[in-house]
Amino acid sequence: MSRILLTLLLSALLFITQHDLSTAQVSQPENYQNGVVTSGDRYASEAGLEILQKGGNAVDAAVAVQFALAVTLPRAGNIGGGGFMVLHTENGNINTLDFREKAPSRSTRDMYLNDENEFISDKSKIGGLASGVPGTVDGMITALERYGTLALEIVMEPAIRLAEDGYILSHSHARSLNSAADRLREFDGSREVFIKPDGSSWEAGDRFIQKDLAETLKRIASMGRRGFYSGLTGRLIVEEMNRVGGIITLRDLRDYKSVWREPIKAEFYDYELFMMPPPSSGGVVMKQVLNMLDEMNIGEYSLNSAEYVHRLAEALRRSFADRNYWLGDPDFFEIPLSELLDEKYLSNRISDFNPATATSSDSVSHGHVNNVMESDETTHFNVADRYGNVVAVNTTLNGSFGSFVTVTGAGFLLNNEMDDFSAKPGEPNMFGLIGAEANSIEPGKRMLSSMSPTIALKNGKPVFAGGGAGGPRIITAVLQNFLNIALFEMNAAQAITAPRIHHQWLPDRLFVEGLYFSDDTVEKLESYGHQVLRIGNIALTHIIMINDESGVMSGASDSRGNGYVAGY
Ligand code: DON
Repeated sequence: MSRILLTLLLSALLFITQHDLSTAQVSQPENYQNGVVTSGDRYASEAGLEILQKGGNAVDAAVAVQFALAVTLPRAGNIGGGGFMVLHTENGNINTLDFREKAPSRSTRDMYLNDENEFISDKSKIGGLASGVPGTVDGMITALERYGTLALEIVMEPAIRLAEDGYILSHSHARSLNSAADRLREFDGSREVFIKPDGSSWEAGDRFIQKDLAETLKRIASMGRRGFYSGLTGRLIVEEMNRVGGIITLRDLRDYKSVWREPIKAEFYDYELFMMPPPSSGGVVMKQVLNMLDEMNIGEYSLNSAEYVHRLAEALRRSFADRNYWLGDPDFFEIPLSELLDEKYLSNRISDFNPATATSSDSVSHGHVNNVMESDETTHFNVADRYGNVVAVNTTLNGSFGSFVTVTGAGFLLNNEMDDFSAKPGEPNMFGLIGAEANSIEPGKRMLSSMSPTIALKNGKPVFAGGGAGGPRIITAVLQNFLNIALFEMNAAQAITAPRIHHQWLPDRLFVEGLYFSDDTVEKLESYGHQVLRIGNIALTHIIMINDESGVMSGASDSRGNGYVAGY
């Protein structure tokens, strides 16, 4: 072979390798006329784009992205987990779908406590008992049946192909598999899928093939719900439960149903926001905080100044106190929603705000409303099409790789979402969140979530969709993405890149992205009495924006992660 030919061949090979390995992409300029997808993984965004280009609408593409993420982002994308969808249809309807996991029928209130009434925290996080009944497959099929235009087999094609033929691991794919290897090795099903036969580490450039998962996806594609909640897949899930001491039964699987829910609606400046209601806390907290910020004239302060951060933190502190006490599954617990979202209530709640002094969280409790009660991993994606359909989906296994249990023979991981319940009053979960009765464990109940898929309208047209990963930090991050646009007129890349803060009432800490807040700002915040903690990244988000006049679309995936924008 001539030298020239060899050089050409080598550079082609190098190009392919580089091309295949470059998954991270921050943002794109506003240049899409026909459709855009932003998600936590390049292959998944491209799967969505493929379906849009085949003539599918945003819902068709969203279902394709969800199934593709189950293959290419196994630590968070899933069919063994759950999530929430907010969607805007081309004729202006806005709806939300709750496909959150449910506690198995054999779960009990104290299932994670030992005889001494102590919380055995590993039990709700790792292994058989950690999983709720998965909702994703029902959710995707329910959304597709109501709003999609293509057959399930068609929208699942990219995911099946990625599982069957495999895909090339990027550096971040390989790192994430390697970092969870010790835990994954503990479970036979997970070892088979996620550990190389010779036990060596994954490397960028390896091809990752998932044959069992491909077969499971094919069963879903051809049989719909029955391909997952009964038949062979259902049996394999129950067999796995028996193997690892889990309690999900065939009946639990068969009975799973996702629920259409009325969105939480808020108005802020020129925008109308549509957000997820309970069992997600995202919508309630965001609406409460926006209301309190308006009350404090937030628009007068510059981005991330001490004055701005102080106001944001104080609103968050009060809202998270309400969240942790009042919110849970509305099908099980009567949430005084209209009271919690009432303007007078919120104005009263922030009336003790002091511009020069931080309130101590010890002195803040949940608000008293009249209605007395009776009783590092998630992922998000957005799709917009040229017809005006916009879909925002926040979905998760909860922790990275969920319960670490893979259903043997079916090739997919199960969630550890049971940890999102309040296992014992006063006992923090993995995100430091302390819950109450509203979020106690009951059979068939959904655990409270912070996932916050959000769509905002301006002049009646969808202009923003977003969501993210990071437990309770999802709420604050999506809120800040939106504020950056509404208050500071940023474009998608700027809105997502701007430094973030977080406060969740307890622990009483003001988290700031350490590198990006000056000593002066931090010292001023400390002088108010905030306990400021400089940390690394606060959440990972993915957003899209649509110009309400031109219809031109843009997208941004957080440079804090490895997301990808695909559009045309
Ligand atoms: O639903 C929730 O709020 C949590 N299960 C989300 C978990 C999460 O974001 C983990 N990611 N870093």
